[in-house]
Amino acid sequence: MTHEAQRITAEDIRVRKGGAKLVCLTAYDTPMARRVDPHCDLVLVGDSLAMVVYGLETTRGVTLDIMINHGQAVMRGCAQACVVVDLPHGTYEQNPDQAVASAMRVIDETGCQAVKLEGGEEMAATVRAIVDAGIPVLGHIGLLPQKAEHRGGFKIQGKGDAGAQQVMRDADAIAAAGAFAIVIEGTVEAVARDVTMSSPVPTIGIGASPACDGQILVTQDMVGLFADFTPKFVKRYGDAGAVIADSIAAYADDVRTGRFPELAHCFGVVKLEET
Ligand code: KIV
Repeated sequence: MTHEAQRITAEDIRVRKGGAKLVCLTAYDTPMARRVDPHCDLVLVGDSLAMVVYGLETTRGVTLDIMINHGQAVMRGCAQACVVVDLPHGTYEQNPDQAVASAMRVIDETGCQAVKLEGGEEMAATVRAIVDAGIPVLGHIGLLPQKAEHRGGFKIQGKGDAGAQQVMRDADAIAAAGAFAIVIEGTVEAVARDVTMSSPVPTIGIGASPACDGQILVTQDMVGLFADFTPKFVKRYGDAGAVIADSIAAYADDVRTGRFPELAHCFGVVKLEET
């Protein structure tokens, strides 16, 4: 008899409001999913893969098909975490019907637990439509990378009274629309804290506040694999990029000097009789 790990559901995340902190990271492929899964409550297949994996300038430019391929790969590596796949730019903003169709494809073709989409008040009806279709939604408010270009760049949100009130209204609208949790990105600390105190669902911070109910980072940032730039909110826990660079340099050196391969790496080696 096989013993399968119990999968964490979106509802399990929702009821963690105010409880033990939620640990969340991104993964884009099976090997990384296997590594993060045992440590995480939630694993996000984020559209940040546009920049981290595909070398694009922004998170725009990844299609639903690309997100589904990566969602399938991550699902192969995650046995216990709640897996959420981002709806990419252009696949949900037109109207709620478009959003429901995109969310359905993601769920049906990957088997993941939920989808995430960016936006506050203006996206509440869309979140409601997806939730009514039986698909759990993770909200995403504050700094919205998909929309940053049109909002004057990657700017911290929640500044001043008007900014703070907007983030608060966005959180209220997305929670009322039925999201099971809300990512708050790049937002003034006190505002993220206030949202967390008033929100009925867990908040997951990234560049937000330690008071959030959970935290998320891009794994490649955190382990030192993506070094194009390191945002202020990232804490580097390792230098995987240096480990990879050193390993590749050592291999290149071994091949050039004939130290690799050794006979131990070859097949059918005939051992010569010692004389
Ligand atoms: O795309 C992503 O990785 C994200 C997280 C950083 C929240 O949206």
